[in-house]
Amino acid sequence: ELEETPMELGGEQGRWEEERLKTASLSFGAKKEREQGMKQEQEKYQLILEEEEMIDFVTTAITMKGTRSEKDAPALSQAEMKKQSMQEVRRSLPIFPYREDLLAAINKHQILVIEGETGSGKTTQIPQYLLEDGYTKGGMKIGCTQPRRVAAMSVAARVAEEMSVKLGNEVSLVHDCYTNTLSVTVPSSRLKLSVLLSSSVIIIDEAHERTLHTDILFGLIKDIARFRSDLKVLVASATLDTERFSCFFDDAPVFRIPGRRFPVDIFYTKVRLYLNPCVLVCEEIEACCELLQERCRRLGSKIAELLVLPIYANLPSDMQAKIFNPTPPGARKVVVATNIAETSLTIDGIIYVIDPGFCKQKSYNARTGMESLIVTPCSRASANQRAGRAGRVAAGKCFRLYTAWAYKHEMEETTVPEIQRTNLGNVVLLLKSLGINDLIHFDFMDPPPHETLVLALEQLYALGALNHLGELTKLGRRMAELPVDPMLSKMILASEQYKCSEEVLTIAAMLSVNNSIFYRPKDKVVHADNARMNFVVPGGDHLVLLNVYNQWVESGYSTQWCYENFIQFRSMRRARDVRDQLEGLMDRIEVEVVSCQGDSVPVRKAVTAGYFYHTARLSKGGYKTVKHQQTVYVHPNSSLFEEQPRWLIYHELVFTTKEFMRQVIEIESGWLLEVAPHYYKSKELEDSSSKKMPRKQGKTKEELG
Ligand code: CDP
Ligand code: MG
Repeated sequence: ELEETPMELGGEQGRWEEERLKTASLSFGAKKEREQGMKQEQEKYQLILEEEEMIDFVTTAITMKGTRSEKDAPALSQAEMKKQSMQEVRRSLPIFPYREDLLAAINKHQILVIEGETGSGKTTQIPQYLLEDGYTKGGMKIGCTQPRRVAAMSVAARVAEEMSVKLGNEVSLVHDCYTNTLSVTVPSSRLKLSVLLSSSVIIIDEAHERTLHTDILFGLIKDIARFRSDLKVLVASATLDTERFSCFFDDAPVFRIPGRRFPVDIFYTKVRLYLNPCVLVCEEIEACCELLQERCRRLGSKIAELLVLPIYANLPSDMQAKIFNPTPPGARKVVVATNIAETSLTIDGIIYVIDPGFCKQKSYNARTGMESLIVTPCSRASANQRAGRAGRVAAGKCFRLYTAWAYKHEMEETTVPEIQRTNLGNVVLLLKSLGINDLIHFDFMDPPPHETLVLALEQLYALGALNHLGELTKLGRRMAELPVDPMLSKMILASEQYKCSEEVLTIAAMLSVNNSIFYRPKDKVVHADNARMNFVVPGGDHLVLLNVYNQWVESGYSTQWCYENFIQFRSMRRARDVRDQLEGLMDRIEVEVVSCQGDSVPVRKAVTAGYFYHTARLSKGGYKTVKHQQTVYVHPNSSLFEEQPRWLIYHELVFTTKEFMRQVIEIESGWLLEVAPHYYKSKELEDSSSKKMPRKQGKTKEELG
């Protein structure tokens, strides 16, 4: 919400877009062609192909295979007309005049970096050009990876529409099974490495986003491309830092698609303005939409009709589709977006952009192992992308809610790649399972901090996923099958031993939907809190979550039930989806799905087996983590807030006003010796000793690496 006073505009008004337009040019082909050093690494990957090893790191990918089947050809003339107008739209895109040049360049070079303004047609057109040019001959696929599932979904639907085919045949979506709620999937819910290996072309799209998975893909694909000289690699990026990609891929040429941007006037504020701070991204977006709608209602007929539409990753797809609908005459459309709208989605007709200058970023503290989502100023590169969204169809304006000085001096040039600010447990497990043992020398575009890598190795060793030589154990191999954090997969695997996999799967699914189960509207706080209290069972929050889920199942997955109990239906639906997908994987890792019939001890032991790293003990004024003697507190929302049991395991630490433990469960200290005898010594768990540290691992960092 903006300050009540009218915004004072002024300061600099940049015409930087115009300048960029003038300098945009097609500079291609000048770079030296690189030698295709055929390395003897073939064996490694061949082995993987045989085993049909799975990889999880491509969150979403579109694969296109084969040619169109006749039965899908539209019979109606209306469909024919639609197809024709679609073709016209395709021909009007900035990339179209460069179709032949682009295909020639792809033919000539194994690796090509493609740079183009958002909306120029990279994502939707390049796969089709390749298809038309015969790259799917012999059953080969064209793969296009997307870091965001919303974008992947929308883009796959769009490509299918342009091709007049149904989604799921020629164009399909392969996606990560964990965080996803897609309606369209291919049989395997996880991308197989064989998709990479049976493709003629791999497009790494949105490369500039530098997500963890994109960065890992860079390293892997660079390696694979060395021995698969027939594989074409296209690195598609918005107009950002493409020289870095070129450099990483041994000076691969950069193909620049000149954008058709209109000038954007930039306005800064004289003082920093803030939007209402809230807790969760989707809540913020929804809250902002509500505020806008409320304002409109108050203004009544004084202003033209305002369509206020949210867009964020977890928004149901029918709601997402709304942002693309044309605005009725006389009305105005306002899209309230997370940074998903920065580069991955193109919404036509946007003229004004309001940029608060912040982003929510994951950050990781390798010392404490704590991951947190923090609001930080965005980078200048992000700010420029945001501004650029205003100039797609006509001259636009961008209002920056910060000063010109802040832009110049307080913002970083570019965003720090995710790999440098995240927990690497999952990635290490994945790479080890692909047979890549030497992680210290893996070809990262920007290597992660050494201590983060070492911590991940240490944790995996403590969990029993790696042996003292740093090799994957049998347990580790099974853990790698599950696309979830190592502690969570250990918990799931431990449920086998304690015969409570039914319950633990539910808990894992509920934990994964990000603390957004309980709904607490401002005007019904008392009711909501009462409803929440009714779910409380002894033992801790994990068991409360289990209780909520089980009751929901009993209600027949009812929406009404959720509404009456102040439960977020959307989150429950997602939890159900995640649970289904996890259950589907139990077969692969040979865990029988059985129930412990209401006994909470086995469940709590399984949680302990996965999360023994996260033990806290009651001490004066709060709790102390056993690992770092860090003072932490039970979150006020927890069912154990009043009770304060002696020993707790927390799911995560969040820092708001204090270090809070979120989702806690009560345990007995003796269980720690049972589940992690290699990690804890009984002396350390005596209640009198408050200063003792857990035993250090026996192996040094070098031995683990
Ligand atoms: O990848 P890039 O940002 O270069 O562009 P794109 O996503 O291929 O989009 C090209 C054009 O297709 C844009 O003008 C979009 O408006 C349109 N498009 C659409 O109408 N619906 C979608 N779901 C995706 C793209
Ligand atoms: Mg794109």
